[in-house]
Amino acid sequence: MVTQSSPTNVMWSSRLMFILAAAGSAVGLGNIWRFPYLAGENGGGVFVLVYLACIALIGLPILIAEILMGRAGRQNPITTMKLLASESNASQFWQVIGWMGAIAGFMILSFYGVIAGWAMAYVGDTATGDFVGISGAAASQVFNQFISDPVRVIGWQTVFMLITVSITARGVSQGLENTVRYLMPLLFLLLVTLVGYSALTTGHFLEGLSFMFSPDWERFSGESVITAMGQAFFTRSLGMGAIMAYGAYMPSGSSVVGTATTIAVLDTSVALMSGLVIFPLVFANGLESAAGPGLMFITLPIAFGQMAGGQIFGTLFFVLVTFAAVTSSISLLEPAVAWVGERLKLSRAKAASLVGAIAWLVGLGSAASFNVWKDVTLPNGWNFFDVMDQISNNVLLPVGGILIALFSSWLLNKTILQEQLKEDTAYLGLWLWLARIVAPLGVMMVFAVTVLAWL
Ligand code: PHE
Repeated sequence: MVTQSSPTNVMWSSRLMFILAAAGSAVGLGNIWRFPYLAGENGGGVFVLVYLACIALIGLPILIAEILMGRAGRQNPITTMKLLASESNASQFWQVIGWMGAIAGFMILSFYGVIAGWAMAYVGDTATGDFVGISGAAASQVFNQFISDPVRVIGWQTVFMLITVSITARGVSQGLENTVRYLMPLLFLLLVTLVGYSALTTGHFLEGLSFMFSPDWERFSGESVITAMGQAFFTRSLGMGAIMAYGAYMPSGSSVVGTATTIAVLDTSVALMSGLVIFPLVFANGLESAAGPGLMFITLPIAFGQMAGGQIFGTLFFVLVTFAAVTSSISLLEPAVAWVGERLKLSRAKAASLVGAIAWLVGLGSAASFNVWKDVTLPNGWNFFDVMDQISNNVLLPVGGILIALFSSWLLNKTILQEQLKEDTAYLGLWLWLARIVAPLGVMMVFAVTVLAWL
């Protein structure tokens, strides 16, 4: 039986605030750091197309499902799933969505804090002119020296996690809402400025554009498909309950489909615009687009170092990345904090500190993967960081996503479903078809492709 706990009475102050918070969750390192380097490594245009297809056919229906289930349950994702399963006469097995999500959230937050810490460190380095006129070799050396120094890396990771926890501790209105209210508009402003800078100063804007939209089949493989799909989940914050947790605070009476579409468009635009900032800079300076995770930390500083105004715009760039990371990390923490708070009857501040401290601790493993634990790997070569990244993004999020799509479309009590989608009746049929069949089948097909590619 379900222990009935009272639904949350905390709400976003408006639909716009929900959109900003959910877009804040979606827009993050995934868009600015991960998307461009993955596109670079996996053949540009083909990768982008597969990613866009995944986002439209799989990502959007699941985003809708998470919002509507969150709003229907009005609890943390674990309790929401318990409640919705019993109200739908479905097995309590479906709680697994909440549990797996909390685990995935932890895993992601643990390495997210590390990479966000790197970006914060780079704000200072760029501002003080460390990269002005720097050569490629020197930029790699700066980055490698930085990530090999556990004290600096852990120091910045700690600063980032403290910021995340202190925002979450203040609660939904004072903490989360106040943060996204200012940071999101600023983030868009910075991004538009940077696209303008890249377009006006590099002279290679069209080359960047064509790289992103014309395919290079040689670099594309079966594995690229799973990477594109994992990225579609990661960038949308899907499959782990972050959006479900935020949906619990969404006011009733507004269209779920319209809201989800707005979030999706914002998220995708930011990813594409980040590519349009980065690739023209890369090509203008004759650098390698397939530089991997170092693309943002080695290649970009070289590029900014060569360009007029690079010191200022480079600093702005890393400020942008830091803001984007903060508005995502608070959403990674939210499901677990809401659950721990309810379960252990802790204040928000205590719950946030407890959960944040554990995520920080696990994150030390990822921080160490670039230095003291560099050689501690699985037989396939994955270090601790790779294990966290691969398992969460390429396995847990897609599996969570399939379960969310299946539960919401096949099993969820029809009265609840109709109530949540009453502003969206025109799309109900289409959504049902995508969530029941297309999205689950799509994810399973991608898994099949991956397994075949491994064999
Ligand atoms: N969407 C975030 C990004 O693109 C990462 C994230 C994943 C946030 C899952 C919350 C949940 O950086």
